[in-house]
Amino acid sequence: TANDKFNIAIDGPSGAGKSTIAKEVARILAIDYIDTGAMYRAIGYKLEREGINLSDRDRLKQILDSTEIDFEEGNTILDGVVVNDQIRTPEASKMASVCSALPEVREKLVALQRKMAHTKSVVMDGRDIGTNVLTDANFKIFMTASAEERAERRHKELIQRGQQITYDQVLQDIIQRDYSDTTRKLNPLRKAQDAVELDTTGMNISEVTEKIINLVRCGR
Ligand code: DC
Repeated sequence: TANDKFNIAIDGPSGAGKSTIAKEVARILAIDYIDTGAMYRAIGYKLEREGINLSDRDRLKQILDSTEIDFEEGNTILDGVVVNDQIRTPEASKMASVCSALPEVREKLVALQRKMAHTKSVVMDGRDIGTNVLTDANFKIFMTASAEERAERRHKELIQRGQQITYDQVLQDIIQRDYSDTTRKLNPLRKAQDAVELDTTGMNISEVTEKIINLVRCGR
């Protein structure tokens, strides 16, 4: 019934393990997972691909108005096309970070995210979910880990995908992205007052998942 509906907001810096954990939590609770980072990545990828000059606000608005983003069976769909791989390159990461600071982009994506969570239970992860997108989420988690551990995890992931990049490069990227994500003017990354902080340094996937599942089961 509608009264059983609940939302879980997971925020934190890049590489803290949010999406891996959120996916697991969604699977166990049989609810939808919404990866808001993938939405910023998809927009960033499209703006880059179309060669949009970001200071041309009219053109930007026009492009945003004609952009559709959706999730289907774990795939990120941009204008009807699966873009899972295209949005995971280091260039797409940078573009996502740059365009996530644009008010027009945030306005569009936040509205879409609220709409996605309106009628069903979801686990949503990102940077501003507990503080802005779903301020009345039933559960809020702020997930962190040391920059070194996050760089190690992300480096492994990129190497597995066949990308050539050094650990130091990944660490520098993470430090840079932490800086821009926490210092941008518009809805920067920060812990919501009522969020539970979860430092995952040294923890494995099932340990972190279990913590969140316990929190949800106790709180419902
Ligand atoms: O979580 P991620 O690395 O896929 O996020 C990509 C970029 O999008 C990152 O630089 C932060 C930004 N982002 C944001 O500003 N707000 C969100 N809710 C999610 C991601």
